[in-house]
Amino acid sequence: MRIILLGPPGVGKGTQAQRLARERGLAAISTGDMLRDHRRRGTRLGREAQRYMDSGALVPDDLILGMVEERFREPDVAAGFVLDGFPRNVEQAKAFDTLVGLRGWMLDRAILLEAPQAAIVERISGRRTCRACDRPYHVKFDPPPAAGRCACGGEIHQREDDREAAVAERARVYERETSPLISYYERVKLLARAPATGTPDAVYAALATLLGGAACAR
Ligand code: AP5
Repeated sequence: MRIILLGPPGVGKGTQAQRLARERGLAAISTGDMLRDHRRRGTRLGREAQRYMDSGALVPDDLILGMVEERFREPDVAAGFVLDGFPRNVEQAKAFDTLVGLRGWMLDRAILLEAPQAAIVERISGRRTCRACDRPYHVKFDPPPAAGRCACGGEIHQREDDREAAVAERARVYERETSPLISYYERVKLLARAPATGTPDAVYAALATLLGGAACAR
């Protein structure tokens, strides 16, 4: 199975991608997580990406495409994948078409997660993230351990780009750059819409119904 998760910042793509990957044996490919990993390791790519990410802008396509091409060479991707945060504009979508085409693969679905703006704002403003492994928590819906440390031992913090100014810019960038992908995938009849309201379990159940196969218990 090869899936793209689409949707505005904070709608819950990462949360669902992780679970789909775990329960369906897919590679979870999050370009945001990959970039944050580069930043932690202090690579040249990480340093170049930092100023774009902190302000809520998109990292230039050539950097992203190089990183994704490298990831696609890893063996786990052949068993299927769920993409979270990529493609992010029409140029990236075309490059992705080429990348999968060269391997003789087909995309199964691009799934748009939809939730009311108020829910998205509440999710993103309450998000806390592990500095070490990127696991997302939420102050209300999925509180971090009382000790302020992730299960992996990492420090829990608020992402730079989850602060107000960057969140507003990310929402603008989504509308301008990423939302055209909705019609891009509609045209080739690969778009599906999934309600992302309710608990993470409820959203996962909706995705499971859409993709076929029952929602497994965690
Ligand atoms: P990225 O990390 O991809 O950020 P994003 O798309 O803005 O998405 P988020 O991680 O903010 O949200 P999400 O939808 O995954 O929600 P989550 O599951 O965490 O990108 C960051 C930056 O990297 C970009 O701005 C850009 O600079 C750069 N970048 C990345 N990819 C790029 C690309 N391809 N091209 C160019 N630049 C790129 O959930 C949010 C919160 O809500 C969490 O706290 C979670 O616990 C909670 N939650 C989730 N689901 C629910 C639910 N159903 N009910 C209640 N709470 C919930």
